[in-house]
Amino acid sequence: MKHYLSGRLNVNLVGLRLANPTMLASGILGYSAETLESIAESGAGAVVTKSVGLKPQKGYANPTVVQANCGLINAMGLPNSGIDEFVNEIRLAKTVLHAPLVVSVFGFSEEEYATVAKKAAEVGADAIELNVSCPHVKETGSEIGQNPEILAKVVWNVKAAVDKPVFVKLSPNVTDIADIAESAVKAGADALTAINTVKAIAIDTETFMPILSNKRGGLSGPAIKPIAVRCVYDIYERVKVPIIGCGGITNWRDAIEFLLAGASAIQIGTAIAIKGCNVFKTITHGMEAYLKRKGFKSVNEIVGLSHHS
Ligand code: SIN
Repeated sequence: MKHYLSGRLNVNLVGLRLANPTMLASGILGYSAETLESIAESGAGAVVTKSVGLKPQKGYANPTVVQANCGLINAMGLPNSGIDEFVNEIRLAKTVLHAPLVVSVFGFSEEEYATVAKKAAEVGADAIELNVSCPHVKETGSEIGQNPEILAKVVWNVKAAVDKPVFVKLSPNVTDIADIAESAVKAGADALTAINTVKAIAIDTETFMPILSNKRGGLSGPAIKPIAVRCVYDIYERVKVPIIGCGGITNWRDAIEFLLAGASAIQIGTAIAIKGCNVFKTITHGMEAYLKRKGFKSVNEIVGLSHHS
């Protein structure tokens, strides 16, 4: 693989070989093979697509994104072309990508999740990430991921349908994320992504009305980083599968913090909107320099270190 260099930052994530622990998070720039490839070329160790469902979905009307202090609030409504169209993009991505391709899927029932995941895996997805955490689309996302029994059924069905690693992207909008993590792992999840956005709202003081057309959205960016680090920390203490940290990572120090909390890899989303695609290189160079300075031979040596010292 072009980007697989033997070195401190190499990670084996449930069988996926990543040149470094950074990944493109689902939800931003993940619609086309071309953009996925340009993100991988920018230095991401793996890429995750925008979430795809069984049928085409237009999403919500504008505005779908609003800036908040230290972050963005979005409610796009899971717009996507449907899996039967999206398989072409997956096939194309596989011909150009030199990094693992993770396809994010959602559904309105356990059967739908399984059908979409199966179709994505059949055309070459290296892993599946289950979106059980979108905080504002009815009858999917966090409505599934907030209920341990329903979540377990979804994970179990997907695991029975595909022979690729299954990641479960968890919602922070729950009482105890570690309980939910445990339920996903018992049902067969190979890895957990923590976290999706935090349910949020922004109101226009001139019109007196919520700004987003859907009113409620999900907050991402630096504002949620301490919440995400705490979630990773809690999950690490409860389950044994790898955790992929996500939420507000904008520099190498953020990335290291997630690894110390227990993440084996990290995902970057909102920082690309703020800093551009170069963020992958600046973060990995910073991580490499940190590991060298601290005397670690591999990034894997620092995973969960904050629990032991
Ligand atoms: C959206 O498409 O509205 C966001 C998806 C998500 O939060 O998972």
